Amino acid sequence: MDLKRIAAERAADFLADVKVLGLGTGSTAAHFAEVVAERRLAGELADLIAVPTSIQTQRLAERLEIPLSTLDQHSRMDLTVDGADEVDPQLDLIKGHGGALTREKIVAFASTCVVIIVDESKIVGRLGERVTVPVEVVQFGWKVTRERLIELGASTTLRETGEGPYVTDQGNYIIDCGFGEALSAPDPIASAINNLPGVVEHGLFLGVADHVVVAAESGARVLNRVRP
Ligand code: A5P
Repeated sequence: MDLKRIAAERAADFLADVKVLGLGTGSTAAHFAEVVAERRLAGELADLIAVPTSIQTQRLAERLEIPLSTLDQHSRMDLTVDGADEVDPQLDLIKGHGGALTREKIVAFASTCVVIIVDESKIVGRLGERVTVPVEVVQFGWKVTRERLIELGASTTLRETGEGPYVTDQGNYIIDCGFGEALSAPDPIASAINNLPGVVEHGLFLGVADHVVVAAESGARVLNRVRP
């Protein structure tokens, strides 16, 4: 079975008593949406309503006939289940290579519990080992914002689609930023990026995940955040 599907099925254990669910974005989160739809077809989760983290997830959920709501109608999620691009030993994450980082972070911060589902290829020793940090920036003055990111030590690439710059659900660009070894201490970098005019959000999700479900050929295991 696909490891992403194994992770999604294990995450369904967290659905007990959940009424409002944040639905993540990406291929692993799509598996989870399918699991939710299957449970509903089996007569479970009848009272569940979901808040999608992207237009892509909204369309998928509509196709799967999962009842949807918005953050304006439901400002608090009992649970959010989402994927990630990297998970470090502290369960800090890089997210956003699917482009939905801003909505994903808003929904995650509005959630009582955040469960991240990944296959074992996403587990790293330190953030930035495998992927860059996506930074969503407004189109106005994006080259100036990129200069500020370079001053923070980033190597930068404007995300492209082949037909031009990638545009997020909010109408913004994404600059993918490599920080190398500096990401051994991600908090100062996250704060510095947040302070830049023109930055909407970044893909460093620090202290956000409560549990990470990691799927391997041998099965799924759950990593739990140790709160200080
Ligand atoms: C979407 O913007 C991302 O944060 C995804 O959650 C992340 O890229 C993981 O995607 P996959 O599950 O497709 O690897």
